[in-house]
Amino acid sequence: TGLVTVDPGFMNTASCESKITYIDGDAGILRYRGYPIDQLAEHARFLEVAYLLIHGQLPTVAELSAFEERVNRHTLVHEDFRTFMGTFPRNAHPMAVMSSAINALSTFYPESLDLFDPETVELATVLILAKTRTITSYVHRTSKGEPLLYPDYSRGYVEDFLRMTFAVPYQQYEPDPVVVRALDQLLILHADHEQNCSTSTVRIVGSSHANLYASVAAGINALSGPLHGGANEAVLTMLDEIKANGGDATDFMRRVKAKEAGVRLMGFGHRVYKNYDPRAAIVKKSAHAVLEALGQNDELLDIAMRLEEIALSDDYFVSRKLYPNVDFYTGLIYKAMGFSPSMFTPLFALGRMPGWIAQWREMITDPQTKIGRPRQIYTGEVERGWVERTAR
Ligand code: CMC
Repeated sequence: TGLVTVDPGFMNTASCESKITYIDGDAGILRYRGYPIDQLAEHARFLEVAYLLIHGQLPTVAELSAFEERVNRHTLVHEDFRTFMGTFPRNAHPMAVMSSAINALSTFYPESLDLFDPETVELATVLILAKTRTITSYVHRTSKGEPLLYPDYSRGYVEDFLRMTFAVPYQQYEPDPVVVRALDQLLILHADHEQNCSTSTVRIVGSSHANLYASVAAGINALSGPLHGGANEAVLTMLDEIKANGGDATDFMRRVKAKEAGVRLMGFGHRVYKNYDPRAAIVKKSAHAVLEALGQNDELLDIAMRLEEIALSDDYFVSRKLYPNVDFYTGLIYKAMGFSPSMFTPLFALGRMPGWIAQWREMITDPQTKIGRPRQIYTGEVERGWVERTAR
């Protein structure tokens, strides 16, 4: 077995080679397929970035419109699937509903399960990108007990997602263009982040030749934890608590630094970034723009900025290189858009879907791939003899 060393949290273990996403955590650099994140966030559309991550190149005008058209045409879900979506309890956490729904998709599309036929994999890719959009809007609707709407093929991916989520049935709905653009940009910022917890989960599940639906559903479950994607919801809970306790950011930071049980500055710190997360910088700007465009003045944004200000000049955070991560400001934008906090992590999952798919596809076609099977160092009892029940 050679020399086995323990690496808790895989701090120093590369599980694969990848051509998809580059991060330089010390310099605060993130690139998808070589393109800097700020350029993509400024110029690209979400499905354009999905195409880039999955196929390796920016699409031509014709390729992009064919891809968008194909995804759009698949956004309708089977009627029985709609019924299924309506059967979860109202207070179920949306992440549990979402992962169950994505897992259940495979049962509706058995023709899309061949792992090794490129056309079938492309079909599964399109189906998942299309249905996830519909499912995410249904997750919001079912949590409110509201009717599930049908897609409108004439609208874009993000615009129709907002309509299906927020429109009153049979009433005209025109989403604010500032909101459409901001959400499109947020999805782009979340689209991939190399071998994070959920992506590694997707790869390891897929390495057993489980299908793409099963693999990305596992990714959603990994994302749900508060140390990962669940942090965006946890940030808002934290800000709400600070506000309820009189808005004293300094006192909260004292508790964080004292490492009081269960008190962490959520939305801060990162395994790889030891500098400002480049996504957080873009999200922070967007938070101000969206709140201003919607005419909202959220006291929570002031508290968040105060926390950041304290952290960036406090030795506890400076010495540990703790900076805001992507989750720190996103919740404030989602809240301003009308999403409840339990929908924040499903929005992260909607955005991360292209990355999970791209990474799964890279894994399944990589000749180096083997089933993921880490080793351990056994620290339990040495051999013991069986003791009769009555003699213990
Ligand atoms: N608040 C206070 N102290 C912190 C924080 C924080 N948010 N993050 C790290 N630390 C401290 C930690 O206590 C440790 O201190 P010491 O050296 O005295 O023991 C030191 O910094 C190193 O932390 P770590 O836990 O060993 O770092 P890690 O790489 O294992 O964890 C992390 C990374 C993201 C899980 C962690 O920073 C964290 O829990 N952050 C809050 C949750 C969060 O915002 N998660 C979102 C991550 S980014 C995108 C995503 O995945 O969704």
